[in-house]
Amino acid sequence: MEKLVSSWYKNKPLPESYIFPPETRPGNLIVPPCKTIPVIDLSKAEGQNRTHIVQQICKASQEYGFFQVVNHGVPEDLIKESMDLLKELFEMPAEDKAVLYSEDPRNKCRLSTSSVNYGREKIHHWRDNLRHPCHPGLEDSIKNWPQKPVRYREVVAKFSIEAKKLGSRILEFVAEGLGLESGYFGGELSEYMQLSVNHYPPCPDPSLTLGIPQHCDPNLITIVHQGDVNGLQVLNNGEWIGVEPLHNAFVVNIGNQLQIISNNKLKSVEHRVVTNSNLARTSAAFFIAPSGDSIIEPAKSLIGQASVYKAFEFKDFLLHYFLNLENNEVVMERFRLQA
Ligand code: OGA
Ligand code: NI
Repeated sequence: MEKLVSSWYKNKPLPESYIFPPETRPGNLIVPPCKTIPVIDLSKAEGQNRTHIVQQICKASQEYGFFQVVNHGVPEDLIKESMDLLKELFEMPAEDKAVLYSEDPRNKCRLSTSSVNYGREKIHHWRDNLRHPCHPGLEDSIKNWPQKPVRYREVVAKFSIEAKKLGSRILEFVAEGLGLESGYFGGELSEYMQLSVNHYPPCPDPSLTLGIPQHCDPNLITIVHQGDVNGLQVLNNGEWIGVEPLHNAFVVNIGNQLQIISNNKLKSVEHRVVTNSNLARTSAAFFIAPSGDSIIEPAKSLIGQASVYKAFEFKDFLLHYFLNLENNEVVMERFRLQA
């Protein structure tokens, strides 16, 4: 519990255990939030413009692995109320956070800090994290969610239902863009959704540490609300580019499974989170993932000359992902077919 960054960071220098080696620390490089990551207006998706929106989504997913969506249909006041509650949760007194804190990764609702593996990691990450399942079986999983702040369950339940709807809608566009049948991603491939809330307190030296080091998301697709503070960066042609926080937008990124199912037509791209010295940053990531037993393999119609990947069970992928955190290439290589 005393390990949570939000519990001890005030008026302390950056501890040695948070200092990244020179090759992975962000340094003083200024990465201006840039406008190249496409912003897609979903209100234009119905009617005649649908094909155009589908193309935009696929192009962004090929080039950047990331895009933002605006006019997505999730009510503005629900987003604001949810994000305010999530911030409030990390600002609660220590005794309220202690109830949620757990070092056991099997725990269904868990407040923790740094990576999934605080005990075994070499360097700690400057972030606290709350995660719990949202779907399927919301009625059941909600019983494990935080009881404080008092409106947490009611509001975050609504928020997660909206996020799931948005995710399903985007997956329909993706299926259409790839030429797959409607509903292709609708079954067990997107059966599971988890909310992961990141909280990055102000940091005494953002040049030396990271909130989350370079990684790809192992799931199907991720829908993030990043609040209004900079921090998320995406690797593009060997360079880091910042994802501009846009009021009321969601950031969408392609997970490893969508890259595999699309036989590399869409890209799961590495990203990281940098900290800053003035402002706390809170982001809400909805991870949409296959059920553990799902068989993942490139869609038959996308194989073309050759399938790039083997068929495997999703839970097997996760196992290797967590054994090789921060080394996406090693993980993906394991599931590639040899040429
Ligand atoms: C993640 C992630 C981005 C953010 O949780 O996997 O990349 O802005 N989060 O917090
Ligand atoms: Ni991520």
